[in-house]
Amino acid sequence: MSKTEIKSTNIFSVEHRVAATERQETNGHRGGILWLTGLSGSGKTTLGLELERHLHLKGYQVYMLDGDNVRGGLNSDLGFAPDDRTENIRRIGEVAALFADAGLIVVTAFISPYQADRDLARAVKPDGFHEVFVKADLETCEERDPKGLYKRARLGEIPEFTGISAPYEQPAAAELVVDTGALSIGQSINRLLEYVDDQFGQPHTLSSVA
Ligand code: ADX
Repeated sequence: MSKTEIKSTNIFSVEHRVAATERQETNGHRGGILWLTGLSGSGKTTLGLELERHLHLKGYQVYMLDGDNVRGGLNSDLGFAPDDRTENIRRIGEVAALFADAGLIVVTAFISPYQADRDLARAVKPDGFHEVFVKADLETCEERDPKGLYKRARLGEIPEFTGISAPYEQPAAAELVVDTGALSIGQSINRLLEYVDDQFGQPHTLSSVA
């Protein structure tokens, strides 16, 4: 459970009758969270989607949570002010931990600009949390500008835009750094796949990756 205040009273926590090790035996690999953080345009979504596809084909139980999607549903009440971003990340941290407890590898793709928020997400499931810094400097991201948002932010059309008019705090001690400014998408994915193999173990059923 997270450290945030619990409003409900008279609640009793329930013990599952399926142990984490039993889920692990079924899947052949551990559950956990690959928390991708980085500027908009750094490649989080691109890498997350490719990684999800590759891991699925290799037989892993995997699911990706992406900022732009989750903000259209669960977090549709949140904007981009600091408190809203904190709440965005808090909820995702909780949801990701539930998925991980269910035995899945969860790939999250959120800017998550504040170290303190990422640390809180880690604290929900410290043993299975892997912070992955998707590294590309502002200049590179602005050049890519896949959604045209940097251009609009520079024109003052988007307030509190990360990297332009809102901060991004680089991870202090990420478990993995993927430098998309220097690596190709294929190289970045290979680095991530090696990491997963090393940290989460091998699924039972292996099929070839297309
Ligand atoms: S976070 O900062 O709270 O982690 P999140 O990853 O959920 O952000 O959402 C980021 C996405 O929202 C960006 O990829 C972009 O498409 C969109 N977006 C819209 N407004 C902003 C803004 N002010 N700052 C950053 N991203 C924004």
